Amino acid sequence: MGEFDFIDRSHSNAEKHTLKQKLFGTQEVLPMWVADMDIATPACILDAVRQRVEHPIIGYEIMAESAYGAQCDWVNRHHRWRMEREWLSYSPSVVASIGCAIRAFSDEGDEVIVQSPVYPPFYDMVRKNNRKLVLNPLIQEDSGNYRFDVEDLKSKITSKTKLLLLCSPHNPVGRVWARDELIALGELCVQNGIVIISDEVHCDIIFPENTHVPLASISQGISESTVTLLGPGKTFNMAGFSISTVVIASSQLRERYRKEQHKVHYGDGAVLSHVAFEAAYTHGDVWHAGLLRHLSANREMIEKWCRLHPLIGFYKPQGTYLAWLDCRALKMGDRELREFFVKEAGLGLSAGLSFGKEGSGHMRLNFAVANDVLRKALEQLSHALERNGYG
Ligand SMILES: Cc1ncc(COP(=O)(O)O)c(C=O)c1O
Repeated sequence: MGEFDFIDRSHSNAEKHTLKQKLFGTQEVLPMWVADMDIATPACILDAVRQRVEHPIIGYEIMAESAYGAQCDWVNRHHRWRMEREWLSYSPSVVASIGCAIRAFSDEGDEVIVQSPVYPPFYDMVRKNNRKLVLNPLIQEDSGNYRFDVEDLKSKITSKTKLLLLCSPHNPVGRVWARDELIALGELCVQNGIVIISDEVHCDIIFPENTHVPLASISQGISESTVTLLGPGKTFNMAGFSISTVVIASSQLRERYRKEQHKVHYGDGAVLSHVAFEAAYTHGDVWHAGLLRHLSANREMIEKWCRLHPLIGFYKPQGTYLAWLDCRALKMGDRELREFFVKEAGLGLSAGLSFGKEGSGHMRLNFAVANDVLRKALEQLSHALERNGYG
């Protein structure tokens, strides 16, 4: 593509490299697991940070109103949702916000619904906060498409059910939930007094013909029951700045959330992150459009490869840069599958089982890498399949 700088991060502290030994038992894997990219963070962000460093004091600062304004404008421009400034507050991490919201809107022993398979910290936050995890697994249709199971959800709601954790778009299955699906889910939660924590951190990685609908933009009723988590970390490959926002339209929920947030005292974050955040949402449009072109090309490459290797099932993700590979036709156990990817294919992917038992037999591949790196990874996988009689 030539549009981006791809960075060799093997001599940095990048998690994808430093944790190779621990996760895969070897250094000899091409790491394609943790959800960040090998693409340089946009120059507009790095320039803004460089400029800020010209000022010799990096002290306590509060986030500028213009930074929140830049995010509101971005969300309105890209997702047609008019957030009001007073709904927003700073958070250093989306996962930390999930934990905080769980404590704010439920008590120990209350039930929290999670739609499996899903990003593993969803489970951790429920368990570590001593709430009861209630699974509402996604349904997989014969086409490979995943959808909500609203009937199952209805049957699982009790007087103890206080929260539902929504992943939108969904990591790992790549669904961009459609408006009517979100309405059905949202209305059911409103009717039952369930607060929805909507993690929309992947909302800017959406492929053509799909539209991300912010849950809270659907109706006043749903908006009043929703806590939306947003951030520039995935969109602009700037997770290391540890900055995101919590968006709550209901003043009552906002007050409860902020009371809980004050207990952990993470203040207003770090000044260089504020600057990076504002620059991203103000100047990042052109870079972002290029990113989507690059990721679309990689998504096509995987699709073509899977057509030639029918034992690996692939339901094209509608959003996210994560490919959810269905390897069940290889008929391996989960441990064997993982070892096959590491030892035979030399690939460090996320094991499907880590997303819940519904992820058994799957592997998640992060395709936010250079085209050449992806091609090499797929070649390694082709050779491994052939060598082991799956060709
Ligand atoms: C769905 C989802 N939520 C949250 C995060 C992490 O957010 P943070 O680093 O801000 O805690 C990730 C990272 O992969 C993610 O996929």
